[in-house]
Amino acid sequence: MLLAEGNKRFCFQHPNDFRKCIKVKKRRDGWEENLIEWFYLRSLSFKKYEVPCLVKCYGWVSTNIGYGVVFDKVVDEDGSDSLTLKKFIKEEYEKLSCETVLEMAEELKKHCLGYSIAVTEPNENNIMVRKEASGCKFVLIDGIGGREGVSIKNILYIIFSFYARRKTKKQFFRFEKKIKIWFDRG
Ligand SMILES: Nc1ncnc2c1ncn2[C@@H]1O[C@H](COP(=O)(O)OP(=O)(O)O)[C@@H](O)[C@H]1O
Ligand SMILES: [Mg+2]
Repeated sequence: MLLAEGNKRFCFQHPNDFRKCIKVKKRRDGWEENLIEWFYLRSLSFKKYEVPCLVKCYGWVSTNIGYGVVFDKVVDEDGSDSLTLKKFIKEEYEKLSCETVLEMAEELKKHCLGYSIAVTEPNENNIMVRKEASGCKFVLIDGIGGREGVSIKNILYIIFSFYARRKTKKQFFRFEKKIKIWFDRG
């Protein structure tokens, strides 16, 4: 069952585990995205990092439409599927303030910088909003460890934490500007 799709990959419900999903390439270069993400998340678990705002990645499986990577599915505390930031903003726009969204982004940035995660594409489709009793939290599902195909940068982000942090700061600066524009504060 198809849960959603991005530009490069389909995201399917895992057939044997309702808490997981499988991402499979849609475009020719979609597998690179999977490889980068998988490699990057592996490198984090190698460093023994368990980062709360990132989805867990389990490894490769073969499906009838090609190889895919298994991830935890993002769900709210009550078990229902979480919304992407895009849908969340759409649904809750009236109730939300720019400050609340900026605060959630700040929280995500703080965690990512704390673990020197290279966040390369923070945007409304790559962030999901997990609703919990205590409030809402951003979870990153895509856009980490590199973008635009496999390159030496993917390795540099893993080896040089300052390089990863620099990228993350730059990307969040742009993302914050974008949030302000959504709320007409640009
Ligand atoms: N771990 C996940 N849990 C729930 N939904 C997900 C998960 N990962 C991806 N999705 C959904 O699939 C869409 C596409 O995934 P994404 O990783 O962004 O692929 P792409 O590389 O094509 O951008 C997301 O926008 C989201 O709606
Ligand atoms: Mg995406």
